[in-house]
Amino acid sequence: MHDPIPVLTIDGPSGAGKGTAARAVAARLGWNFLDSGAIYRALAVAAMDRGVSCEDEIALEALAHSLDLVFEATAVPRALLWGADIGDRIVTEECGNLASKLAAFPLVRRALLDKQRGFRRPPGLVADGRDMGTVVFPDALYKVFLTASAEVRAHRRYKQLKEKGIDVSLANLTEEIEERDRRDRERATAPLRAADGAIVIDSSALSVEEAIQACLAVVGSF
Ligand code: DC
Repeated sequence: MHDPIPVLTIDGPSGAGKGTAARAVAARLGWNFLDSGAIYRALAVAAMDRGVSCEDEIALEALAHSLDLVFEATAVPRALLWGADIGDRIVTEECGNLASKLAAFPLVRRALLDKQRGFRRPPGLVADGRDMGTVVFPDALYKVFLTASAEVRAHRRYKQLKEKGIDVSLANLTEEIEERDRRDRERATAPLRAADGAIVIDSSALSVEEAIQACLAVVGSF
C-alpha cells in the first residue's frame, strides 16, 4: 500500500490571508497549490460571458462540467479560461461576490469536486478554500482554519485591491465581506467552518511571515 499523497488544507473566510500564506507554504514545501476560490471565480466569469443566470443551478452545473480552466504556475500565476487569460477579471469583488452566490448550489459544488481533487499530485498539495478540510479532502493529513477579525480582513483586502489599482470604499468593502461571510457560513452545502481536528490560527495580529510559519509548523516543517 502506498501512503496517500499528503495534503495541507487551509480554509477560512475571505481576507484572512489564506491566499498569500497558502501559496507561499506550497512554494516552500515544493508542493502543488490549489486556489479553489479561483475555480468558483472562473465559473462566475464564464457565467457572465455566456449569459448564464446566477439563479439557474442546472445551467451552472453544465457550465461547471464544461469549464476548460488551466492554472499556470508562472512567476505571476495565470488563469486561462478557454485559453483566455482571466487573471484581471477574477480578482474583483464583483466576481468574488458572484462566485459566493454560485458556490451555494449543491450541484455546482459537486460538479467541481473532481477538478479540485485532480490537484492532488506528488509530492503533496496545499489546498486553499472554504471546504477543503471538510468536504474536498476530508482525509487530509494536515488541516488549518485561518481566520482574522472582520475589521482586519476588510483592511487587508482594501490594501490588496488598492495595490492592484482597483478603487473601492472601505465601508462598502466591510459590508460586502460581512455579507459574503454570512452567505458562505450559512449555506446548507459545505458551509465555511473549521474541519474536525483543524488547527485554528488567528492571523489578526500576525505578519504574513508569521502566518506562513504557523502553517508550516502544522506540517512539522519550519
Ligand atoms: O477564496 P475566494 O475569495 O477567492 O472565494 C470566492 C468565493 O468562492 C467564496 O466567497 C465562496 C466560494 N468558495 C467556496 O464556496 N468554496 C471554496 N472552497 C472556495 C471558494
